[in-house]
Amino acid sequence: METTPFFIFLFFHLTGLIIGFGSVITTDLFGLLWIWNRVRFTQVIKVSGITEYFIWAGWALMVAAGVPLLVLKGELDQLMVIKLFFVGLVGLNGLPLHLLHQQLKRFKDGDQVPKLFLFRLILCLSISQLGWWGAVVIGFFHRHIWTIIEWPARPGVMIALFVGSLLLIWVGGEALGRRKRTVSV
Ligand code: HEM
Repeated sequence: METTPFFIFLFFHLTGLIIGFGSVITTDLFGLLWIWNRVRFTQVIKVSGITEYFIWAGWALMVAAGVPLLVLKGELDQLMVIKLFFVGLVGLNGLPLHLLHQQLKRFKDGDQVPKLFLFRLILCLSISQLGWWGAVVIGFFHRHIWTIIEWPARPGVMIALFVGSLLLIWVGGEALGRRKRTVSV
């Protein structure tokens, strides 16, 4: 496993991590600065409009380098199934996040934003954090603690429970957010 090609692909894997995850953290930092009243809402939208491309590029590079890494490793353990689920979740979640961002561009500082829209945005941002952190922590465990981790016993059940909980939160939020309430940005 620890051959020169493995380390070359690992280099690209980590480059993708810096570009993709670094851009996620930058975007979220601007979101936090807006909550703390340190930057304007329109600034957050401008920054996230740029970082979005870097997040996609980093994610794509991680997948492109991750596949040969896994082939060279030659083992697909239970925890890797969970990691691949997180990677897919991040990719899929990027689509609604992109659409929400397109809608976000229509708002200006001081505008009234529907609560339902904010709920969807916060849900997608939370899923993105969960997915990225999940994949990073599992990657770290595999590389630095145990190479093969046959846990959890039934990754499919864990994934189904996780997806079920997310769907419940989404449906619940949609039902509660139907009342036309807005928040000033
Ligand atoms: C969002 C996407 C991903 C993230 C955040 C991520 C994260 C990581 C991290 C942090 C490491 C440890 C690197 C080190 O400490 O040197 C790692 C290693 C690794 N990653 Fe990924 N990864 C992602 C996608 C993938 C994909 C799609 C695959 C396979 C198809 C993959 C396969 C691997 C392999 C084989 C290793 C070497 C460690 C091991 O599992 O034995 N990764 N990854």
